[in-house]
Amino acid sequence: MLQTDDVAMLVAQARALLEGERDLIANAANLAALVAMMVPDLNWVGVYLRRGDELVLGPFHGKPATTRIALGAGVCGTAAAERRTVVVPDVHAFPGHIACDPASRSEIVVPLRCGGDVIGVFDVDSPLAERFGAAERALFEELAALLVAGSDVTRA
Ligand code: SME
Repeated sequence: MLQTDDVAMLVAQARALLEGERDLIANAANLAALVAMMVPDLNWVGVYLRRGDELVLGPFHGKPATTRIALGAGVCGTAAAERRTVVVPDVHAFPGHIACDPASRSEIVVPLRCGGDVIGVFDVDSPLAERFGAAERALFEELAALLVAGSDVTRA
């Protein structure tokens, strides 16, 4: 599990990484790489970007994943439709969970909010059950906010 110091360090690293670049895809790609490299016990990290009523796969680290998710479907579509972070301690207990990597046991999805809109989601999976606690939630919510604030966002 992450400690408060780890969260502060990762946020500082993310800020440095995004500095001087405003492209959303480039920034999402580097953010996914940073999290995959620095946060232990993860098997998938990436973004889905909103295109109308769907989320479309964006930059990620992990196994190939489903390319389109309807708003309201799965963990990602639920987080986007309900505009809230969804933490799933056991993916097998989440009705409608979309399995991309069968190794995934827990998941957290943070909406990418821009004003009143959701422009996508930040999705992180772990092969461990109950991997995501308060520190992880705080970290990924801050990284999601950094990504939106640090990038030029095209609305769907
Ligand atoms: N599990 C997600 C689908 C995306 S993969 O985890 C990469 C969901 O239920 O929306």
